[in-house]
Amino acid sequence: MKIKSLAALQIYDSRGDPTIECTVKLENGVSGRGMVPAGASTGRYEALELRDGDVQRWRGRSVFNAIDNIEKILAPAVCGQNVCAQKEIDQAMIALDGTDNKSNLGANAILAVSMGVASAAANTQRIPLYEYLGAGQGDILPLPQIQIFGGGAHTAWRTDIQDFLIITVGANSYGECLQMAHDVYHTTGRWLRRHHKLCGVADEGGYWPVFDNHAQILDAIGECIERSGYRPGRDVAIALDVAASELYDGQHYRLGLEGKTFSSEEFIHELAAWCRNYPILSLEDPLADIDTAGWRSLYAQLGDQIQVIGDDLFTTNSARIKKGVQQSLANAVLIKLNQIGTVSETLEAIHHTQEAGWRAVISARSGETEDTFVSHLAVGTNAGQLKVGSFARSERMAKWNELIRIERCLNAKSRFIGKKVFLMGKNPIKNRIFLRN
Ligand code: PGA
Ligand code: ZN
Repeated sequence: MKIKSLAALQIYDSRGDPTIECTVKLENGVSGRGMVPAGASTGRYEALELRDGDVQRWRGRSVFNAIDNIEKILAPAVCGQNVCAQKEIDQAMIALDGTDNKSNLGANAILAVSMGVASAAANTQRIPLYEYLGAGQGDILPLPQIQIFGGGAHTAWRTDIQDFLIITVGANSYGECLQMAHDVYHTTGRWLRRHHKLCGVADEGGYWPVFDNHAQILDAIGECIERSGYRPGRDVAIALDVAASELYDGQHYRLGLEGKTFSSEEFIHELAAWCRNYPILSLEDPLADIDTAGWRSLYAQLGDQIQVIGDDLFTTNSARIKKGVQQSLANAVLIKLNQIGTVSETLEAIHHTQEAGWRAVISARSGETEDTFVSHLAVGTNAGQLKVGSFARSERMAKWNELIRIERCLNAKSRFIGKKVFLMGKNPIKNRIFLRN
């Protein structure tokens, strides 16, 4: 079925910032829509998000030039093409852009079209998006990473570490994960209010807490897990997104909350101590994207004990992932569509991650829309893990809720492997008390 037209709009994301929505219409009247998210702590190797930059209008954040690129440059190339030729369409857009990081037409322009094309292709075949993206192979409901506290660039640096998340390792179904998340999220909110430590809600819906140091925060999560009736580690483990590129000045890491500065090895030592003292199962971006020697050292010390995820390090870029695999820098990759800018390159990045025996963690951004593409991507590719923020705010809940629908749609065919995702592949995680049965 051929593409008839593209219609792009400037809409607003969860931070009230402009972003792009593109509707791809087919000749048979069927259509599909893509909505582009935006990061706040973006990695230096990400594809470029094109903003108009006129400070008099939308504080420079409007996206009308990118929309122009969709209507004047991408539409003539895409219209008339077979909507199911995702890779060819993506390649044609990449060629038209002509740069390595999509800085000419904008990764936001290209991704809006690319997501719209995938969604229209699924719609015209009358199959769910997860089935289309995974060519019918996807049946695993993901284990969520759910943010409890937000920090870093998402809360004006009230804490240095960006995300304090939980992983419900004790859950036996996707539904049970959400029930446990509900318990811990609300118990934590009550606890914070009682202790006068609640400052507000962060960009991804987690609490914005007032603490004096990071150990206090980790203690509080442990206490709230217990108060919710769960065993820290056994039922509910902790995951951190350190987002360390934001803490690094090229030589040192700084934790402003403690007023401490660390060399790379000292910072690894600090993180390793946290992993010993708290039930931490997963560390994302523990070091800066340019600190390759640090990554190698941390992975050698902790890689068999915990999941080590590269986000800013890999930016969903297959070439960077392959290099990381060769150098043994991590054992998991965070996957974000707009870091690379097309659906087919995102699928390729997931493929290279899984082929290496590493885990792919599908992720939303801190600036999101009501689009549920990532929920379908997680199931379609059998990624086994999904990170879309906290257990509040509709742009987050839309993604968790879509998985309830997908579970119903898959019916008896769905699988939930839960914590077994950490035991699979060429890099199983060993020796952690919470992964024992
Ligand atoms: P971002 O945060 O969308 O602001 O980059 C999410 C993350 O770092 O994982
Ligand atoms: Zn991250």
